[in-house]
Amino acid sequence: MLLVPLLQRCIHLLLLPIHILACLGLWGSFCKRVFPYVMAKVAPVYNHKVYKQKQELFSTLRKFTGPSGQLTLLEIGTGTGTNFQFYPPGCRLTCSDPNPHFRKFLLKSLSENQHLKLEGLVVASGEDLQEIPDGAVDVVVGTLVLCSVGSVRRVLREVLRVLRRGGAFYFLEHVAADHSSWTYFWQKVCDPVWKCFGDGCSLSRETQMELEKMNFSELNLRHFHVTPYWIPTSPHIIGYAVK
Ligand SMILES: C[S@@+](CC[C@H](N)C(=O)[O-])C[C@H]1O[C@@H](n2cnc3c(N)ncnc32)[C@H](O)[C@@H]1O
Repeated sequence: MLLVPLLQRCIHLLLLPIHILACLGLWGSFCKRVFPYVMAKVAPVYNHKVYKQKQELFSTLRKFTGPSGQLTLLEIGTGTGTNFQFYPPGCRLTCSDPNPHFRKFLLKSLSENQHLKLEGLVVASGEDLQEIPDGAVDVVVGTLVLCSVGSVRRVLREVLRVLRRGGAFYFLEHVAADHSSWTYFWQKVCDPVWKCFGDGCSLSRETQMELEKMNFSELNLRHFHVTPYWIPTSPHIIGYAVK
């Protein structure tokens, strides 16, 4: 469809001042500081919408408890720590996020979830989790993260590296809509603006295809829509993949 690149070009033109700020390194650092405040407002609203799905998904975490008898969990792109309430008591948690400005919100969420045992706070991108040894964790969790990362494949490779054999990667992501739908059309048109104001988040990622390509022994994946259906972040995938 020719209309999409045309509209995208117009949007890029409108975004020129922001592109200039980005080239000067000013836009990125501004976003990194402001985004945690935005997420602190957005995450509870989003959690309310997907509460049932998250509760159902995370209720299965315990079956991946390791030989130590305790569940060792690494969350990537932890953000404000909106998932902590869903983790089982005694869970040994390591949080990682490349944006250190989330720390204040993360610590607040940790103080409200004393049923968890904090093992570490790591400032790192999902593509490079070098502080976590090979096969060290039972479960890796990532929600609304793979839409923002530089390389989904590199993140999934790191996830596979840090998981013990038989461990699982839990995910919940908004994804690209059906290519014949209007939602997909608007996802492609809005992508440049969304990336600028959403800290690099892409609306049209084919995350399920990346998951299928990886060397997981089992992939449990389900599609669902968050209401209202017309919003470009409505199509979602949820599930877990076993190493
Ligand atoms: C939309 S927020 C989601 C936060 C949280 N997981 C949630 O569900 O509310 C995206 C998160 O991914 C993080 N992020 C961005 N790029 C990343 C990367 N390359 N690796 C890991 N996390 C990343 C951001 O700092 C932010 O915390």
